Amino acid sequence: MAGIRVRPAEPHDREDVTALHHREWGGPYVVVHDTRYDLRELPTLVAVDGAGRLAGALVHRLADDGLEVVSLAATSPGLGAGTALLVAAEAVAVAAGAARLWLVTTNDNLDALRFYQRRGLRIVAVDAGAVDRARELKPTIPWIGADDIPLRDELRLERRLTPGQASLASTPS
Ligand SMILES: CC(C)(COP(=O)(O)OP(=O)(O)OC[C@H]1O[C@@H](n2cnc3c(N)ncnc32)[C@H](O)[C@@H]1OP(=O)(O)O)[C@@H](O)C(=O)NCCC(=O)NCCS
Repeated sequence: MAGIRVRPAEPHDREDVTALHHREWGGPYVVVHDTRYDLRELPTLVAVDGAGRLAGALVHRLADDGLEVVSLAATSPGLGAGTALLVAAEAVAVAAGAARLWLVTTNDNLDALRFYQRRGLRIVAVDAGAVDRARELKPTIPWIGADDIPLRDELRLERRLTPGQASLASTPS
C-alpha cells in the first residue's frame, strides 16, 4: 500500500466520492439488511494516492452493535486502497470501543469474500433472498452479478475486536 494515505473525507472529495459510488452502486443509496442508506449522510474515509488522487472510499456507521462498513470501494483494484481503508476503519472502531467490525456483501462478490476473509473477517450469517428483498426497495439492483452469478443473497461478515488481538494491519502477509 505504498503511497496510499487514509484520512476522513473533506468537502472537496465529494465529487470524486460521488462518482465512485455511482460507478459501484449506481448512486448514493445502498440497501443492505433491509435498510436503505444514503452514503452522503454517513462518515467517510478516503484513501488517496501519492499524487493526492482518490484511490478508494469507505463509508461506515457506528452503533451499539459495532462499526458497520456500509460501503467500501477502490477506484482501481489491487493497489492497496481497500486494505488501507479497512485498517483505518478498524482503528476508528477500536477508538470508539466497538466490539466488532462488520459488513454485508452479496453472494456473487467472490472477490470481496476472498478479500475480507484474508483480512480476518468471518462469515457469520447468510440471509437467503435478502438481495431479492432489497430489489423491491432499489429496483436498479441487477439480477445478475459478478461472474454472471444470480444476485440473491447477503452474507454477513465480522471481525471481533478484542483487546490485544492482532489488527487487520497484520493480516495477511
Ligand atoms: C474489494 C475491494 C474493496 C478491495 O479493495 P482493493 O483496493 O482492491 O484491495 P487491495 O488492493 O488492498 O487488495 C486486493 C486484493 O486483491 C488482489 N488483487 C491484485 N490485483 C487485483 C486486481 N487487478 N483485481 C482484483 N484484485 C486484485 C490483491 O493482491 C489483494 O489480494 P491479497 O488478499 O492476496 O492481498 C475492491 O476490489 C473493490 O472496490 N471492489 C468493488 C466494490 C466492492 O465489491 N466492494 C465490497 C462490497 S462489500
